[in-house]
Amino acid sequence: MVYSKEFFALQIDLAKAVAALVGLPIDQALRDYTNIYIRFGLGRHFDHGHPVWRRYIDGLTRAADVCDWTYRFYLAQRADSRQPETSTCFSYVMQDATCVRIHFRNAESATTAPLSSERLPARLAELRTIFDEIKRDGPHVTRVVGTSWLYNLPAYRRCFPAPYVASGRIAERRYRHISLWGQFLDRTGSLRPNVTQDFKSRLAGLTKPGDLGRVFPLQALAVEAPIEAFYRFYGISADG
Ligand SMILES: CC(C)(COP(=O)(O)OP(=O)(O)OC[C@H]1O[C@@H](n2cnc3c(N)ncnc32)[C@H](O)[C@@H]1OP(=O)(O)O)[C@@H](O)C(=O)NCCC(=O)NCCS
Repeated sequence: MVYSKEFFALQIDLAKAVAALVGLPIDQALRDYTNIYIRFGLGRHFDHGHPVWRRYIDGLTRAADVCDWTYRFYLAQRADSRQPETSTCFSYVMQDATCVRIHFRNAESATTAPLSSERLPARLAELRTIFDEIKRDGPHVTRVVGTSWLYNLPAYRRCFPAPYVASGRIAERRYRHISLWGQFLDRTGSLRPNVTQDFKSRLAGLTKPGDLGRVFPLQALAVEAPIEAFYRFYGISADG
């Protein structure tokens, strides 16, 4: 997915507000309160000295338009360091030897709503394939975890067993991650107008650093459950 320029503008708005509110240099606010570092494909170490990040920050100080510079930099980075994307909406990584982490991205065409009831059978089939594979190849896996704003949506929650979605706890300080910022996007990478407007009004009224989390209409939720709940939910039998 190519994210829209407006998505970057929204994040820059937050970084500027945080910088002004707590007296933080703008480069630090951009690194710590936006998803931009990750969108540049620089990994998750958030290293201030990363040469690509330094190049971005150096250009920023000379740029007439911060958003324009950021978006041009993103498009160039994306072209240079394109990572292969999964062909399915759901995917997983092994968090450690006993724990699986679930991820979601829109892998459907722009005209198809990935979380619609029409596509629910396809989503459940993806998850069944994932858990079949884990049962076959990962006998030591005992836990499944996830963190996302998506766990607030009934259309997403219905893809998972009840104990997993019921375990949701607010995941604080996800400012660097798509698990929080994703709520502003539609399936094409453009902004959703109502949620964006809500965010902008909350941001305009922000006066205390402690209220920062509340400018986001939805919070990222951290969920987890034993893997047996998933085997049962997707009809994967005990003997495989
Ligand atoms: C997830 C994503 C594909 C949803 O896009 P979309 O175009 O709204 O997709 P769908 O039409 O399938 O929407 C699913 C439902 O969620 C609702 N919804 C989506 N975003 C919402 C939001 N921010 N607030 C409230 N409801 C929302 C939609 O209205 C729809 O509900 P409905 O079926 O009752 O109409 C899109 O936000 C995205 O790609 N985000 C970036 C990736 C991401 O956030 N991944 C999570 C990583 S942890």
